[in-house]
Amino acid sequence: MQWPDEAATAAFAARLAAQPAVQDAFVTLHGDLGAGKTTLVRHLLRALGVQGRIKSPTYAVVEPHAVDTRQPPLAIWHFDFYRFDDPREWEDAGFRDIFASRGLKLAEWPEKAGALLPPADLAITIAAQIDEGREVHIAANTPRGQALLEKLT
Ligand SMILES: Nc1ncnc2c1ncn2[C@@H]1O[C@H](COP(=O)(O)OP(=O)(O)OP(=O)(O)O)[C@@H](O)[C@H]1O
Ligand SMILES: [Mg+2]
Repeated sequence: MQWPDEAATAAFAARLAAQPAVQDAFVTLHGDLGAGKTTLVRHLLRALGVQGRIKSPTYAVVEPHAVDTRQPPLAIWHFDFYRFDDPREWEDAGFRDIFASRGLKLAEWPEKAGALLPPADLAITIAAQIDEGREVHIAANTPRGQALLEKLT
């Protein structure tokens, strides 16, 4: 799939947000520094109804968001494992509990958490091209992901 500009990234985020199954999905985001992983997450959060300033995870590996205006309320967990280097944090910071709970989980740099992560429903790989273009590949690893992918392609 091609996203010729950031508006196309936003349009994809809106289509993903419109799928009810996304509310309990685990989506990993792959690609180099500056590929557009956080940008996709931000558009997705907006499309799902997150208001106000959207903070990104930096020193904390996870930034939680809640959309209380939805029925039922939606919990979203935005992980960035770029600086994740201590596997003990997985238990200590409650990541296991997050993945066992309801809500949308999004993860940048999932490679850095290795085998601690469950299989992603969707794995989205973004590669920057010239200018604003992005070459995007989406893989589904679960039945939920497969159903989502069929609606998106
Ligand atoms: N089509 C596009 N889709 C997404 N972002 C784009 C696009 N075109 C240009 N950009 C710009 O590219 C940059 C992508 O940065 P972003 O922080 O999203 O990357 P990232 O993959 O999260 O990097 P990192 O690995 O450092 O977290 C942003 O400045 C964004 O505005
Ligand atoms: Mg990022």
